[in-house]
Amino acid sequence: MPRDVLITGGSGGIGQELARRCVEIGDRVVVTGRDEGRLVASVERSGARPVVCDPTRPEEVETLVRDVGGSVDVLVNMSGGNADFDRQGVDHPRLDDVADAWRTNLDTNLRSTVLVTTAVLGEMRPGGAVVNVGSIGAEYASTSYGVAKAAVQAWTAGLSREVGPRGITVNCVSPGYIEDTGYFKGRLTPQRHAALVNATHDKRAGLPADVAETVLFLASAGARHITGQTVHVNGGAFTTR
Ligand SMILES: NC(=O)c1ccc[n+]([C@@H]2O[C@H](COP(=O)([O-])OP(=O)(O)OC[C@H]3O[C@@H](n4cnc5c(N)ncnc54)[C@H](OP(=O)(O)O)[C@@H]3O)[C@@H](O)[C@H]2O)c1
Repeated sequence: MPRDVLITGGSGGIGQELARRCVEIGDRVVVTGRDEGRLVASVERSGARPVVCDPTRPEEVETLVRDVGGSVDVLVNMSGGNADFDRQGVDHPRLDDVADAWRTNLDTNLRSTVLVTTAVLGEMRPGGAVVNVGSIGAEYASTSYGVAKAAVQAWTAGLSREVGPRGITVNCVSPGYIEDTGYFKGRLTPQRHAALVNATHDKRAGLPADVAETVLFLASAGARHITGQTVHVNGGAFTTR
């Protein structure tokens, strides 16, 4: 039976690859993004159905859920990124800028996840799966982005306890450095790339497919007893022991 899959942030590197794979295995897939041009270009590659939506806006999320209609079997909260990317490394930031960075990153990564999940959960049937997307940055939590992703991981565990009795799993996939994505906005230096690769055990950058396949597993029938977890996809750059 084809599953109904909703992927927010499905117009980017990891989300687009996940959407392509879900379509390939026969799922009915809706992807969202805020930038219509980027979204339309991405569905030409993935074959998913596009819906323009800013997941930080409650009214747009309500419209999205009406548009998707009925029950979603798999929700993947991929939408996100470091909204403070341009301000990194400022020695004496203005407090207005600090406030703006924290608000924006919490909105982009946490609020969006909470709003879309809350809107979808009511109709989700037993057997449903929610997969949130965190980041290796959560392990250091020294930036507004890292803290926002750490909060996503914490909320994942709490929500799992709440909806587990309904037969719904909730997990978080936490990527390390993944190349071929828009995350670094084309501004990753060769030195930084080399340092990120060197931090891994397998001495390579992650690929969108590495994360997409992990999400697919967590949403599969074989993973029904895995819930409330953060699963790391980082080549060993961070280990849980
Ligand atoms: N690539 C990495 O190295 C890496 C590492 C750790 C975690 N992650 C996480 O993986 C997820 C997917 O990111 P990606 O690597 O595939 O990057 P990407 O290619 O930039 O894709 C990001 C997706 O999220 C949407 N989005 C919504 N708000 C955004 C914002 N403020 N900044 C950037 N994109 C935003 C984008 O579409 P619109 O902008 O049109 O809405 C796009 O569909 C994100 O949650 C990211 O935090 C990535």
